[in-house]
Amino acid sequence: MNADLPFSQACENNKAPILERLREVFNAPGTVLEIGSGTGQHAVHFAHALPHLQWQPTERPGACHLASTRLKQAALPNILPILELDAGKIPWPVADVRWAFSANTAHIMGWDHVEQMFRGIGERLADDGAFCLYGPFNHRGQFTSESNREFDQYLRSRAPHMGIRDIEDLSALAETARMALSERFELPANNGMLVFRRTPEPGFTEKLTPMQEISHRSGSRSPVSNLFMFSRMAGVRDDKPARTSAQGWKLQGFRSCPKDMGTGMATRMKCAG
Ligand SMILES: C[S@@+](CC[C@H](N)C(=O)[O-])C[C@H]1O[C@@H](n2cnc3c(N)ncnc32)[C@H](O)[C@@H]1O
Repeated sequence: MNADLPFSQACENNKAPILERLREVFNAPGTVLEIGSGTGQHAVHFAHALPHLQWQPTERPGACHLASTRLKQAALPNILPILELDAGKIPWPVADVRWAFSANTAHIMGWDHVEQMFRGIGERLADDGAFCLYGPFNHRGQFTSESNREFDQYLRSRAPHMGIRDIEDLSALAETARMALSERFELPANNGMLVFRRTPEPGFTEKLTPMQEISHRSGSRSPVSNLFMFSRMAGVRDDKPARTSAQGWKLQGFRSCPKDMGTGMATRMKCAG
């Protein structure tokens, strides 16, 4: 550890438990867009431990210096140069990504910026992508611990726009950005990680093609019925033939399905296979 670098003890404490969850969620190659990278400790730790990922740290304008020296010293091949990104200013100056991550930002930004953060991620996230948000959260308007209540009071006394957010409010926000809360992990120190995954684009319907209708009515469990199940799960665009799923997956069986549709859907897909 270099004593001259900006340092967060909280970051040091939470990086190991967060990593274990990111390993599960960010389980395929892709770029991770990190919002509000702070000191860069997370970026270095996660990029080092997850070499199949490419990490894109970002910070609000004027704050990139907090991380830049640490990121340069780490010299990891899978960390991209840090970018200035104000989550509250859409459109974001970044390319599309498969994954997104942010830690301890939702209670620091004003709610309007939290809204923009979800919108920005919604505009950039791949169809098989996920957004992991770490921090303290309330559940149905209730603090989950006395220490979180005190922390919230402290935040609000510092700036009225800050405060611990409700999981239900974040979940509703995600839905406006074509995402849905799919997993919720409880982590040490009364913090948690919420995983938001893509939902099908509007315009996808469960309409059946004539071939699927026949298969469905005949009760067939042949590959044709698999085709029906698969395309129902993924959503079929009215104007596209049913042989291609919404995300362009080939209908070759269910091993090719990413497990990004939520547990229930994944199970139903397996049954169909
Ligand atoms: C509590 S720190 C967390 C830093 C780091 N993610 C961590 O967990 O240690 C909150 C971070 O959010 C950043 N931030 C606040 N408002 C932002 C915005 N509108 N856009 C991007 N980042 C923002 C701050 O600059 C700060 O680095």
